[in-house]
Amino acid sequence: MARTNGTLPGNRRHFLDLGVLSTGEIRKILDGARRIKARRKAPLASDKVLAGKSIAMIFEQPSMRTRMSFDIGIRELGGESVMVTGKEIELGERESIADTARVLSRYVDGIMIRILNHAQLIELAENATVPVLNGLTKTSHPCQVMADVLTFEEHRGDIAGRTVSWVGDSNNVLRSWVEASAKLDFTIKVATPEELAPPADLVNWAKTHKADLRLMRDPHEAVEGSDCVLADAWVSMGDKDGKRRHNLLKPYQVNERLMKVAGPQAIFMHCLPAKRGEEVTDEVLDGPQSVVFDEAENRLHAQKSILAWAYGESFA
Ligand code: CP
Ligand code: NVA
Repeated sequence: MARTNGTLPGNRRHFLDLGVLSTGEIRKILDGARRIKARRKAPLASDKVLAGKSIAMIFEQPSMRTRMSFDIGIRELGGESVMVTGKEIELGERESIADTARVLSRYVDGIMIRILNHAQLIELAENATVPVLNGLTKTSHPCQVMADVLTFEEHRGDIAGRTVSWVGDSNNVLRSWVEASAKLDFTIKVATPEELAPPADLVNWAKTHKADLRLMRDPHEAVEGSDCVLADAWVSMGDKDGKRRHNLLKPYQVNERLMKVAGPQAIFMHCLPAKRGEEVTDEVLDGPQSVVFDEAENRLHAQKSILAWAYGESFA
């Protein structure tokens, strides 16, 4: 969604969206994630790429995985983190986002932020002189999808030429998946109710970037023969029309019947937290095709590699 990844002095970079990265950069981050994961218990001295660095983490919205995995990841790379909620600093209220960016850049070496308004993420990045990392906006969730691709490839090999299927609401996680599909050359089939279909700007982005994005209404059609079935909560952070969404999305539950249509080759992924019994049943989430806890673990490894990349480092 970010039009550019911004510019920073030196070899440092923001991590805002997958759509503005090159295929080579995404591949480099994924390779680094695999390496740093494999040697987690016995890291090399050179893996401490954040030694002497501190990262501010700002959460305007709740989080468990993002907060914990970034905090642990930063420590494992030799850095320090300091966390505040948007409420504590009255983010965007006591002063402009731009001024927060300028001041924080004098204190810390990087800023990881979860903020609903994507334009405010961009404003922060444009005014920071240290790397800014997108920890979820209402528009995208690129850290999540890096972990998701890592997980897919661990279970099913190279994602290029494969098919993943999204069932349910079109949200932030889906947008990052669509951007990944263009960069990594796989097909994405998306089944949503008409009222919750992907917005025109995402569909146009997909066209311009030659993504193989296929939109449909029928979840069966979307998952048949797929390599991966993806679901997410029906009501995302910031959504105010929960009741309407539940009514519209009832036919989009991922259950055993739908996984049968997909076939045994399909894995099931969900970024979590899941509302069991709504978008996915216990049988699927806890079933043999589900890799959701590998996916949650991989947030840690993927983000360590993203952090290294943001400072021009890599795990060789
Ligand atoms: N998947 C994810 O981002 O989880 P949290 O909201 O708990 O960080
Ligand atoms: N789509 C969800 C993802 C949560 C990690 C949300 O935005 O709430």
